[in-house]
Amino acid sequence: MLRLGVDYYPEHWSREIWESDVREMAHIGINTVRIGEFSWGILEPDDGVFRFEWLDEIIEIFARHRIDIILGTPTNCAPLWLYRKHPETLQVGRDGKRTEPGIRGHRCMTSRVFRRYAERIIREMLKRYANHPSILAWQTDNEPEGNHCCCESCTDSFRTFVSNRYESLSELNRKWGTDVWSGTYRTWEEIRPPLGADYEYNWLNPSYLLDYERWAAASSADFLRFQADLIRESNPETVITVNACFAANMPDYHLIYKDFDVASYDNYPEVRIPEDQGNVYSQAFALDVARGRKRKNFWVLEQLAGPKGCWSPMTPTPLPGMMKGYAWQAIARGADMILFFRWRSAARGAEMFWHGLFEGEKPEGRRYEEFKEFLRETRAWDKLFGTELKSKVAVLYSYEQNRAFRIQGQSEGFSYEDQARLMHDGLMAMGVNVDVISEKEELDSYQVIMAPGLFIADASLAGRLETFVRKGGILLLGNRSGVKDLFNARRLDPLPGVFRSICGCSVDEYDPIGKGTQRLRFADGETFSVTSWCDILKTEGATALATYEDSFYAGSPAITENLLGNGRCYYLGTVGDRSLYRYLARLMLDRAGIERFELPYGVELSVRENERTRYALIFNNTDGDQVFVLEQKKISLRPFEVRIVEGFD
Ligand code: GAL
Ligand code: ZN
Repeated sequence: MLRLGVDYYPEHWSREIWESDVREMAHIGINTVRIGEFSWGILEPDDGVFRFEWLDEIIEIFARHRIDIILGTPTNCAPLWLYRKHPETLQVGRDGKRTEPGIRGHRCMTSRVFRRYAERIIREMLKRYANHPSILAWQTDNEPEGNHCCCESCTDSFRTFVSNRYESLSELNRKWGTDVWSGTYRTWEEIRPPLGADYEYNWLNPSYLLDYERWAAASSADFLRFQADLIRESNPETVITVNACFAANMPDYHLIYKDFDVASYDNYPEVRIPEDQGNVYSQAFALDVARGRKRKNFWVLEQLAGPKGCWSPMTPTPLPGMMKGYAWQAIARGADMILFFRWRSAARGAEMFWHGLFEGEKPEGRRYEEFKEFLRETRAWDKLFGTELKSKVAVLYSYEQNRAFRIQGQSEGFSYEDQARLMHDGLMAMGVNVDVISEKEELDSYQVIMAPGLFIADASLAGRLETFVRKGGILLLGNRSGVKDLFNARRLDPLPGVFRSICGCSVDEYDPIGKGTQRLRFADGETFSVTSWCDILKTEGATALATYEDSFYAGSPAITENLLGNGRCYYLGTVGDRSLYRYLARLMLDRAGIERFELPYGVELSVRENERTRYALIFNNTDGDQVFVLEQKKISLRPFEVRIVEGFD
C-alpha cells in the first residue's frame, strides 16, 4: 500500500496528548509515522543510563492503532555528556577548531569512541524493537552530509583511504602532480584534510581535492553502513533507509544506497512561484534524482507542510492546493511513501517556524484540511502501489563530476548542475519519463541519453557509451567532456579526449565566455542565444548541426551530429537557454522514435505502470489553470491539480 503519514516528535509533547494525537492520525487514514531520530539525549540521559519507557509507550500506542513506524537511529546529535566526556567525538572544522555542540550533526563519523557509544544506543534500541511487528523500517542518522571533519581520526582515515588507492607515495605524487609548488609528499603523515579558509580551497591541488571529496563521501557511507550492519544483525529482513536532501554538501547517495534497501528524500519544494517560470521543472529534477539513486521507487520521509523558516526568514505559505499537489507530484515521480514534516509545528527549539500541518494543540486549519483531503484522494489510488516508472530516456548526473566542477569552476557562471537541469527540462517539456542516474550505472536499457560534461572520464566510460551508441542509442554529450583523467588531471589529447571518436569531432579552441553571449544557427534556420562556454569545433566525420554567428569563430560548428553504428552521437559545445534543450530533446526523441507530447510549460506528465496497466499522472505545476489536448482528449487542470488517467497507452 501507499504509505502516508507524518513525522512525529512525541518527546516534545506531554503524554496527555499522545493518545488523542495517534487516534486522530488513525482516524484520518495515516498508516505510517517516523519517530526517534534526534532523541538520544532523552533515551540515554547519562552514560549507560537508559530511559526507554516513553518510546515503549508511544510505540505501543501506534501499534494499537495499527500505524507502522520508521524508527530513526539518534546518532545525528549525541547527548552533551558524551561530548563533555569525549570531546574527540566532536567534528573539527577547516579552521582546525573543534565544533561547539548545541546545534546538531556535529558528530565525528570516524571516531572510534563515538561509534562505540552509537553502537551501544543502537543495540539498546534493537534489543527492544528489532523484531517489533510495528517497526516497518529504520532510518540511520538524519540527512547525512559528506564527512568533512578534519580531526585526527578523520585525518588517519583519509590517509588510509589514499594509501589504499595508490601503490606508493611516489605513485600518488606522480598522479597528483605534486611537483607543482613544491608539494611533494615525503611521508604519508604530510597528507591532511584541507585546512584553511574557504577562499583558499580552490587554490589547492585539484587531484588531491577530488580524492578528498571521494573520501568524504566514502566516509559517510561507511558510517551509515556501520549502522545498517548492526540493524541487519538483529533483523536481516527489516528495511533500512536514510533520508537524503538536495544540498551543496550532499554525500554520494549512489554510494550510500548501494547497501540500503530504499532511497529516501526530504521534499521541500519552492513555494515561491518563479516569475520567469524558470525553475518550474526543478522539483521534478530533484525527485528524478531521488528515484535514480537506486533506480527504483523511493520514499519521501519529509514533505512540505507549511511555510519554511527559522534560520532564514520565513517563506510564503503554500498556496491552496500546493501542498497536496507537491505530494502528488512526488508520487507521480515514483514515491511510494509520503510523510509530511511534521504533525504539529514545534513550540520550542530552533525549528519552531518550520511549520508542520497545524499550529496549536488541536489538529485544524487550512493546511490540515488539505492534508486530510490528500489522504482521501490517495485512498482511491492505492492501486498505484506496485507500479513504477519505466524510462527510455536518461540524464547522467553524478557526485563525482559535480565535485570536480566545484573544485574548478570553468567559466563565470558555468554550472554543471544547471546544464543537467536544462537537459532534464527539455525532456520534461516533451512529456516523457526521465531517469537521472550516475554515469557509473548500466546504460543499455535506454534509447536516449543526455550527459552534461563528463569532465572526469576514462576509456572504459567512453567504451560503454560507444557500445550504447553503436547499438542504436542516441547520445548527447555536453561541453567539457573528456577534459580530465580519473585523477582530476588534465589530459593532453585533443578534446573531447576519450570521446573524440564517438563524437566524430574535436575542439579546435574554446572560448570561456562566462556571462557573455553568442548566437548559433541550425541548418533549418532556427537560432538560439547561448552563453557560458563555446567550443569551436572541427568535424572529423560528424556533420555540423549548428554553427556560431558571432565573434572570430562565426561559421564554426557549435553542435555536431555523428552517425555511429546504429546510433548517433551529438556533441554540444555550448550552453543555451531552455528553448535550445527543448529543440534538442525533440530532435533526439524523434530520431529514437519515442512518442512525445508537447505540454504547456509547467505541466508534467509521467507514467507509472505494472504488467497490467499504465497510469498517466498529469500534474499542473503552475498557479494558473491549464487547458490542453492530450491524445485527442481535452484536459483542464486547476492550479497544482493532478489528474490520473488509467489505461494510458
Ligand atoms: C530537514 C531535516 C529535519 C528538519 C527539516 C526542516 O532537513 O531532516 O530534521 O530540520 O529539514 O528544517
Ligand atoms: Zn573526525
